[in-house]
Amino acid sequence: MRLALLGCGTVGAEVVRLLHEQSTDLAARIGAPLEIAGIAVRRLGRDRGDLPVDPTIFTTDALGLIKRDDVDVVVEVVGGIEPARGWLVEALRAGKSVVTANKALLAEDGVALHEAAAEGGGDLYYEASVAGAIPLLRPLRESLHGDRINRVTGIVNGTTNFILSAMDATGAGFAEALEEATELGYAEADPTADVEGFDAAAKAAILASLAFHTRVGAADVHREGITEVTAADVASAKAMGCTIKLLCIAARAVDPAGRETVNVRVHPAMIPLTHPLASVGDAFNAVFVEAEAAGQLMFYGRGAGGAPTASAVLGDVVAVARNRLAGVRAASESAYADLPVRPMGEALTRYHVSLDVADRPGVLAAVAGVFARHEVSIATVRQGSAGSTGTPGRGDDAELVIVTHVAPDAALAATVRELRGLAIVRSVTSVLRVEGGL
Ligand SMILES: NC(=O)c1ccc[n+]([C@@H]2O[C@H](COP(=O)([O-])OP(=O)(O)OC[C@H]3O[C@@H](n4cnc5c(N)ncnc54)[C@H](OP(=O)(O)O)[C@@H]3O)[C@@H](O)[C@H]2O)c1
Repeated sequence: MRLALLGCGTVGAEVVRLLHEQSTDLAARIGAPLEIAGIAVRRLGRDRGDLPVDPTIFTTDALGLIKRDDVDVVVEVVGGIEPARGWLVEALRAGKSVVTANKALLAEDGVALHEAAAEGGGDLYYEASVAGAIPLLRPLRESLHGDRINRVTGIVNGTTNFILSAMDATGAGFAEALEEATELGYAEADPTADVEGFDAAAKAAILASLAFHTRVGAADVHREGITEVTAADVASAKAMGCTIKLLCIAARAVDPAGRETVNVRVHPAMIPLTHPLASVGDAFNAVFVEAEAAGQLMFYGRGAGGAPTASAVLGDVVAVARNRLAGVRAASESAYADLPVRPMGEALTRYHVSLDVADRPGVLAAVAGVFARHEVSIATVRQGSAGSTGTPGRGDDAELVIVTHVAPDAALAATVRELRGLAIVRSVTSVLRVEGGL
């Protein structure tokens, strides 16, 4: 069984190392020896340390390597949309099996890859694209295929989880925590894809597609990052016995016409400390799956890093290599349910709102009136002197902390907009969505 490796960076180099170190076991598990036919990279002259591989198999001609007759499996760990899409479509159409870690491509144009796989008859596996080492996609696409998944809630971006955990532990602001993450190598020089939620949104699209048998792309995912999360938000969450996490949420919902739909979103949210995801710290990932018959399942582990990601890549390589030897292919994409994706405004969410208000009679009634006008029902109200939940006050102010029941997100957002314009509201100090029971 011969494979073409596209990319030899953080993940690719570990794939090479693991293939070498475990070659005997891998051959026994597959039923045939596994050999690297060639490695495509961008820079032939780059120092790759002491990689245990013949240096003459490196090439810059990825397409030429893919087209070689002696290549059975193509492993893509380059990333990005092009040229990766063109390479993988070519490989799949030619009947080769593909293993990729490329979440951005799968979320952008998974359809093209699945169609090419169906045309060529090879396998398309992508376990490493979501949550690194954590076996998650195979359970969703195989083990849970007899069940009905209702909701998937995950922490799928290690960089943002590190930053939010640091803010929670030290009271630091976002910029300070990002600086620490960069110094420790948890954030890239340009952290946009992580902190603005693009990376998590791509993963949310992949998870939703598998969980709900529906094609969900990156453009279908509502996305908010963590750059607006303040130290005051974190203090406010703590005062409620909560912590803030960047969550990816994919959930079934029923639209106003009674049709079944799905809602897929990525945004920071407060979760109670008793929630299974609250204790997921540092750069770890975890995904909480709620299924009709199986109940609640939690998947936890390292979501990134060369070796953990290479572990997931190699698991896929063994699976597709075995299938090829047996002359079979895995079940193809399952998108039969074809559920409509609901816009964020219709998603049912809960808000936690902290207000700095004038401390005088009638204020509470006026604030409650705004919620009522938007048909948002209030679950709890807590009142303290300003500053009691972490924000500085002026002496004649009071702080109101309101947690709502679920309501359409658009109604909650409109409520906050109106509160901001109210004369008695000196400032809206924190607005966060709430997930899990409070
Ligand atoms: N790093 C992680 O922890 C992690 C976790 C999960 C998933 N992933 C995914 O895994 C993939 C690879 O990530 P990585 O961190 O390993 O990236 P990386 O360290 O930047 O490595 C990228 C590799 O691709 C090669 N490359 C780039 N453009 C190329 C081109 N046009 N033609 C041929 N080769 C090209 C580079 O060649 P040179 O070596 O010559 O520069 C390098 O070897 C991405 O899809 C990423 O999202 C990564």
